[in-house]
Amino acid sequence: MMQIVIVPTPAEVGAVAAAKIAKVVRTKADAVLGVATGSSPLAIYAELEHRKSAGELDFTAVRAFALDEYVGIDYAHEQSYHSVIRREVTDRLGLNPALVHVPDGAAADIARACADYEQLIAEAGGVDIQILGIGTNGHIGFNEPTSSFASRTRIKTLAPRTREDNARFFDGDLAQVPTHCLTQGLGTILAARRLVLVATGAAKADAVAAMVEGPLSSMCPGSALQLHPDATVVIDEDAAARL
Ligand code: GLP
Repeated sequence: MMQIVIVPTPAEVGAVAAAKIAKVVRTKADAVLGVATGSSPLAIYAELEHRKSAGELDFTAVRAFALDEYVGIDYAHEQSYHSVIRREVTDRLGLNPALVHVPDGAAADIARACADYEQLIAEAGGVDIQILGIGTNGHIGFNEPTSSFASRTRIKTLAPRTREDNARFFDGDLAQVPTHCLTQGLGTILAARRLVLVATGAAKADAVAAMVEGPLSSMCPGSALQLHPDATVVIDEDAAARL
């Protein structure tokens, strides 16, 4: 079942989503978090960091799996998702870096790296709660339109629109944006016990409407959330404008 929560501001989106994650971490010290990059989840991490600093939450035993990683940029690059997750999640929340995993976009054997990633998630007992954003074209993780609902971690070509959207992280220079990525599949994401997707701003209104009210369609990968038994979509009024 999909639950939709509409709140006035982006900060409140972060607070509502963070409360759901906090509940999981409080009941399970070694909870498995699915973490996401992009600007949308930053308000969640800020709120969780605040709660950690207040002594309400302890992330030292928490395990984490990122959704995706670029192929073709060095991990040391400040926009690699290895770097972003380390900077925005591991360091801020005080996770043990040894317990934080990101797909190996630099692997010599990509198919093997993808299978190993699925295996690691399975060995951890699956993801307790997965944080998600949504792309303007409806992608989740880097599952671009036409992704199979049954897909697992694999290499994907980034859609032109995604590369344009993400050029802002690469000095606005499209040529610097990688063309490929590794991403958990829609099947991988749907296997998480709980999903919490956040979106803010008018630019996301069409994607949110297609995800929530559109038909189940691989042309809007976010619509896969309609199949999940415990998915919460937390959005501000601008992102909800087309509902
Ligand atoms: C990125 C990420 C997604 C993210 C989406 C939206 O490219 N791979 O996980 O949800 O695009 O990003 P933002 O939140 O910055 O709009």
